[in-house]
Amino acid sequence: MTKILGIVGSYRKQGIIDALVTEALDAAEAAGATTKKIYLADAHVEFCRNCRHCTQQPGTERGACVQSDDMAAILDEWAACDGLVLGAPVNFFNVTAVTRRFMERLVGFAYWPWGQMAPSVRTKRTGKRAVVITSAAMPGFLIGIATGAPRALKMIATTMGAKVIKTICVGLVAGEERPTPPARAVRKARAAGRRLAARSANP
Ligand SMILES: Cc1cc2nc3c(=O)[nH]c(=O)nc-3n(C[C@H](O)[C@H](O)[C@H](O)COP(=O)(O)O)c2cc1C
Repeated sequence: MTKILGIVGSYRKQGIIDALVTEALDAAEAAGATTKKIYLADAHVEFCRNCRHCTQQPGTERGACVQSDDMAAILDEWAACDGLVLGAPVNFFNVTAVTRRFMERLVGFAYWPWGQMAPSVRTKRTGKRAVVITSAAMPGFLIGIATGAPRALKMIATTMGAKVIKTICVGLVAGEERPTPPARAVRKARAAGRRLAARSANP
């Protein structure tokens, strides 16, 4: 049975991103997967301190962080998963601050000892797959051109060792106080959830 982790990087429960991540997870469950959803805004995630302790230890395992918060538990949960549904809205032309804070804490997935100029990836082939979802006030086709959000979400997923199989950009969503996602976006999210459910990381 495949296990899918949903990570919501929006501040709004039942907003567009939460709704679409939930649709993808529901569809994955209907296809036989088990799922778990995490709200980054509810999690205790400290800022990275750039101490690079986590990048010093050699090997393929993610380096341990010196900080004590929810990050290790989230990444342990991810270690047991096959797929990721990651969503965050566009705020000021990029993902939300909670999402970037989470991203910076992923540096332990890289080996970067002092004396080495750039980080190297610890694990290249995990077999894990990801779907990334973003939304904005601007038209959907502009999101990939005018904002850094899709790139940031892909960077998070790939740093976590997952191959992005689908990017969903939903535009024109900021007109109502309590918006519902467009039917087309719901269909895409559900189809992506089913795709994730269909393959385990180590078939
Ligand atoms: C602080 C803030 C900044 C935003 N910046 C942008 C932006 O730069 N470009 C854009 O098209 N929409 C922007 N928006 C609109 C949000 O992207 C939109 O409301 C969001 O995608 C809805 O997702 P949610 O329902 O999960 O909150 C912004 C909204 C807020 C509150």
